[in-house]
Amino acid sequence: MIRRMVTNPMPQFPAGFLWGVSTSAHQIEGAADVREPSVWDVFTAEPGRVKDGSTAAVACDSYHRYHEDVALLAGLGVDAYRFSVSWPRVDSPGGLDFYDRLVDALCAAGVRPVVTLFHWDLPVALDWLERDTASRFADHVSVVAERLGDRVAKWITLNEPAEHTLLGHALGVHAPGRRLMFDALPVAHHQLLAHGLAVRALRAAGAGDIGIANSHGPTWAASEKPEDREAAEFYDLLLNRLFSDPVLIGRYPEGIGELMPGDVEADLKVIAEPIDWYGINYYAPTRVGAPQGAEIEFGGLSFPVELPFTVREIEDRPVTDFGWPVVPEALTELLTGFAGRYGDRLPPVLITENGCSYEGVDDQERIAYLDGHIRALHRAVEAGVDVRGYFVWSLLDNFEWAEGYARRFGLVHTDFETLERTPKASYTWLRDLLRAQR
Ligand code: FCB
Repeated sequence: MIRRMVTNPMPQFPAGFLWGVSTSAHQIEGAADVREPSVWDVFTAEPGRVKDGSTAAVACDSYHRYHEDVALLAGLGVDAYRFSVSWPRVDSPGGLDFYDRLVDALCAAGVRPVVTLFHWDLPVALDWLERDTASRFADHVSVVAERLGDRVAKWITLNEPAEHTLLGHALGVHAPGRRLMFDALPVAHHQLLAHGLAVRALRAAGAGDIGIANSHGPTWAASEKPEDREAAEFYDLLLNRLFSDPVLIGRYPEGIGELMPGDVEADLKVIAEPIDWYGINYYAPTRVGAPQGAEIEFGGLSFPVELPFTVREIEDRPVTDFGWPVVPEALTELLTGFAGRYGDRLPPVLITENGCSYEGVDDQERIAYLDGHIRALHRAVEAGVDVRGYFVWSLLDNFEWAEGYARRFGLVHTDFETLERTPKASYTWLRDLLRAQR
């Protein structure tokens, strides 16, 4: 049945469309002994934080096996590889040498390096509640740009400040494990400020082609009832617009600016520093309704706080092993919605992450997921949205944050005992798709 669904030829994407895959440092590198610690090392060492009790001390050991990974990328035939530079590694002696070697190996293999400058692994001495972290980030960015700027194809300032704020600082299910609820809002502001300062630091270092990777998904109201619609709008504001409006139009959504610290008007000018493209990580839409009780559930934990919304189930849809609903057409809706909302203010868009967790090496469900989403992306292109690239999350199974090694998002299977890599059916499928696009 799944096999039949994917036999129609994939429509052609515009010439120059950038195909890639994504990873992040903490999730794949390992070699924790040769870098400074990050907030994730501290968090995973605390009992009960990561589901299977695992840590990312070894992960996929990509620090030592990057040649194997580059060969897998070359075999896949992607144009680009999105990876992140670990700030605590850059802070350790010789840490940048690793990225120098990786970037050289990618260039030699004809794969363009796309660098994320922050993907959640903050050095332990730093804290996003502090405004100064934004300037420290800009300094770090300058150091990286000086060293790698001559070979990096595209820069991504931050990965998903929304999730890092919500999961890490509001709900405490990610590092650094704070449960500040709405008091976590300064964390969002300081990251956005860090984004703007990083754009300036990159330009000052002569680096161009800069974007951000924000997570977005359509928010669907549970019903037409005013209380459900209102709850859905609030959720949309908090998880989507709070992170896109400041970057794209230099404003916070109504009611949010006054909750932020510092000289917000001045900061917004920095945050809205023009970027060359806008990156979207998309996984699934969310159905949201009016609050249902005094507790919220997240990741198997309950929080005794009343939020002004409840996340509801999206019915009658297949779900991934993570329980995320599979709704490809919501990607078209998301992109046409973005183009409608931001108009000329929206630069070209790249999908910087999209993917799913499923077990098994004959991963027909992943093929169906990717096939559906790439077609949905093409419909957005046909509708006039200027989409320039698509990156699958992820190249290989890796350390999936609080889920440990239990969620497998890779096109390549990782045996976490032997560290052997085995391409899955989806790897071959994507390779063939890319060949047909050329
Ligand atoms: C995103 C993260 C990425 C990965 C995927 C599954 O939110 O950016 O690191 O964990 O989800």
